[in-house]
Amino acid sequence: MGAGATPAIEVRDLETQIDTKLGLIKAVDGVAFTVDPGETLGIVGESGSGKSITALSLLRLVPRPAARIVGGEVILDGEDLLRKSEAEMRKIRGRHISMILQDPQTSLNPVFSIGAQVVEAIAMHAKGSRDSLLKRAIEALRHVRVADPARRVDDFPHQMSGGMKQRVVGAIALGSSPRVLIADEPTTALDVTIQAQYLRLLKDIQAETGLAIIFITHDFGVVARMCDKVAVMYAGRVVEYGPVREIFVNPAHPYTRALLKSVPTIEEDVERLYSIRGQPPAFWDMPRGCRFEPRCDVALPHCKQDYPPEFTDPGSGKTRHCASCWALEETEWTRNRS
Ligand SMILES: Nc1ncnc2c1ncn2[C@@H]1O[C@H](COP(=O)(O)OP(=O)(O)OP(=O)(O)O)[C@@H](O)[C@H]1O
Ligand code: SF4
Ligand SMILES: [Mg+2]
Repeated sequence: MGAGATPAIEVRDLETQIDTKLGLIKAVDGVAFTVDPGETLGIVGESGSGKSITALSLLRLVPRPAARIVGGEVILDGEDLLRKSEAEMRKIRGRHISMILQDPQTSLNPVFSIGAQVVEAIAMHAKGSRDSLLKRAIEALRHVRVADPARRVDDFPHQMSGGMKQRVVGAIALGSSPRVLIADEPTTALDVTIQAQYLRLLKDIQAETGLAIIFITHDFGVVARMCDKVAVMYAGRVVEYGPVREIFVNPAHPYTRALLKSVPTIEEDVERLYSIRGQPPAFWDMPRGCRFEPRCDVALPHCKQDYPPEFTDPGSGKTRHCASCWALEETEWTRNRS
């Protein structure tokens, strides 16, 4: 989308806490990003970095009663979703902002036919006779390229392959033409070929509809194929954010560099594949300074003391390339006002 487009969704300073057995943790700690219509944002980071809790916070579906959104804004159509009532949120979920989860098994109900489940999802946001809703359901299935959808509506989930089931989940999520789709690791349960087809399908639907996609993944290869920009999460915070090309060519944060080094390439011997030493810090025992410091190869003495401010690459365009790392103080990058 061209410069000046109103973002499909804008997230500012999002904070979500979870009350765990080991104490109150800040699973999402000041996360911010925007996604324009027709654009795809990738959220990457190791397991436990807060990607899913971020996604669930946007829909206000964080695990209850332990988790609570305690700060920030989620702006959709100029309105802050965090200030909506639960009744208003029910109308917004599925209709304006939808989500596809990793495992279609948990999204589909085994005892209802595919048709009934797609109809039910459409009926939540549209009125019409049973016949007209069924027609829309068949169209929604055709849209995600389920072959012979008029016949497949009578099938049950167990009669479909994993890839087909994930398409049905896509039809449910996209049936009411939302403006924002959150896809949380939607292809991890699929084999590689089916995965590639599914990603292609999402891109095609996006090109037709101008859908904004937030794509959560561990896989930088998927980011390269799917995303326009990327937010790299570490221990509940975004440590680097910017256009995908910039981040691949010129990664600024040592964590991003380490993640990129651990992406397998065809030539590489899998045995010798790079892995980042150590573990992410525990949320209930966060270092005071940079959270990546214990694992960082280029740490400076003061990295332990204070959390690094955010810096921006002065050469970056509309999508700014930013990172939070003390090492950027010695470069031409400019320090952002906090
Ligand atoms: N229901 C819950 N109760 C307690 N802690 C939780 C719960 N859900 C998530 N957490 C904690 O919140 C933190 C962030 O979890 P989250 O699921 O967002 O990570 P993630 O980045 O999506 O990881 P993965 O890549 O494994 O899916 C983790 O420390 C996790 O243990
Ligand atoms: S702030 Fe310091 S410890 Fe953290 S990533 Fe940058 S150089 Fe490494
Ligand atoms: Mg997750």
